[in-house]
Amino acid sequence: MINVDVDGARKFITDEEFNIGKEKAKEGLKSVKEGTGKGSEWLGWRRILKSPNDAELDRIEQHAQKIREDADLFIVCGIGGSYQGAKAIIEALKKPFSNGGPEIIFAGHQMSGNYLEQLMKYVKRPKEDGSQKSVYLNVISKSGTTLETAIAFRILRSWMHDAYGEEAKDRITATTGPTGGVLNKIIEEEGYHKYEIPEDIGGRFSVLTPVGLFPVAVAGIDVQTLFYGAVAEYENIEKSPESLFDYAAVRFKLHKNEYALDVIGSFEPELTSFCGWTQQLLGESEGKEGKGLFPATAAYSTDLHSIGQMIQQGRRNMMETLLTVEKPFSSQKLPEAHNDVDQLGYLTGKSIHEINQSALEGTCQAHIEGGVPVVRIGVEKLNEQQIGGLIYFYEIFTAVYVYMLDVNPFNQPGVENYKKAMYRLLGK
Ligand code: PA5
Repeated sequence: MINVDVDGARKFITDEEFNIGKEKAKEGLKSVKEGTGKGSEWLGWRRILKSPNDAELDRIEQHAQKIREDADLFIVCGIGGSYQGAKAIIEALKKPFSNGGPEIIFAGHQMSGNYLEQLMKYVKRPKEDGSQKSVYLNVISKSGTTLETAIAFRILRSWMHDAYGEEAKDRITATTGPTGGVLNKIIEEEGYHKYEIPEDIGGRFSVLTPVGLFPVAVAGIDVQTLFYGAVAEYENIEKSPESLFDYAAVRFKLHKNEYALDVIGSFEPELTSFCGWTQQLLGESEGKEGKGLFPATAAYSTDLHSIGQMIQQGRRNMMETLLTVEKPFSSQKLPEAHNDVDQLGYLTGKSIHEINQSALEGTCQAHIEGGVPVVRIGVEKLNEQQIGGLIYFYEIFTAVYVYMLDVNPFNQPGVENYKKAMYRLLGK
């Protein structure tokens, strides 16, 4: 269960405002549940949790296991909602510096020629024993036309066909919409493996489809537990949505009171990319019609030594959301030293988690006193079950809160503007 603590934000809005916000959040959830809100044809991210597709979860696990046994390198090629979720989960759940399973690299999320050139050099570079790396590729694009992804995919798959010949088709998996689009044509022609992104699920809400689940399974993460963690949170919120309402009411009222930014941060470096995923989810969903809180991200305590100054004493137009983990996942303690020249004797024997928690508590106090409303969204532990729950919590939160702004959470019309201008310049 996701723990929502809005105490650090309550003094910034009146009781009346809070209660009005909660009533509005109730209406938002009702629209989601009844499918009466804007963009209601995009609610498939709830449908898949209501009736899980166990056969697909099995297929993903078996396919991923085969790849894990053979691959040195697994390249995920996608942008926006087609890669951020997988990256967030892998970083949250894979132990840093562990080298079990293939190395996972993300490409197709920008158009740096330098990155692609260096990536291809790395892909071709033999291993220490002189043999070639075993490379697998997963291209993910619902539309099948996104330029960043398409460019990287052309370069990567051309190389794979040269390097592996006929075998390339078994090493390439494409995740895309059920029909239509360039990618489906390529799959038909080349015979690559295919996973479908359901028609009724948009990119940033697709992490619990093969978009996120397949790369995450290749990383060795238990996708069944992750998925069913989301199912458990779905059922929990259907029964007890109160904490969702609290968070939505606070964010909505601060937005109404001219706040402009939500700094989404965590003191757990494992959650840095998860903050990035929430940034995309909220940003692309709420930033329309001149509305929305700009979702910035912060990685603490690192960023206390940079934007921490701005948060503490800059313009008072920001709130903060902290993603927290209650239970330590390491017992690392500060060891004794042969003398106390470093003046850390007062911390000797304390766990690093405890010290980090004090940094979190101290920062909350300082930021609230400095005029920043702080909301804490917590999981008990960093594991598959809880991360699955946190994903669904943010999906439903985003839909409900954006409905409160009277905005369609599921489209992104503004993204087309840069594309039109870019294609014009490129002569498409
Ligand atoms: O949330 C969204 O819809 C977007 O961020 C898309 O995921 C992103 O633009 C990539 O689109 P596609 O999967 O069609 O390549």
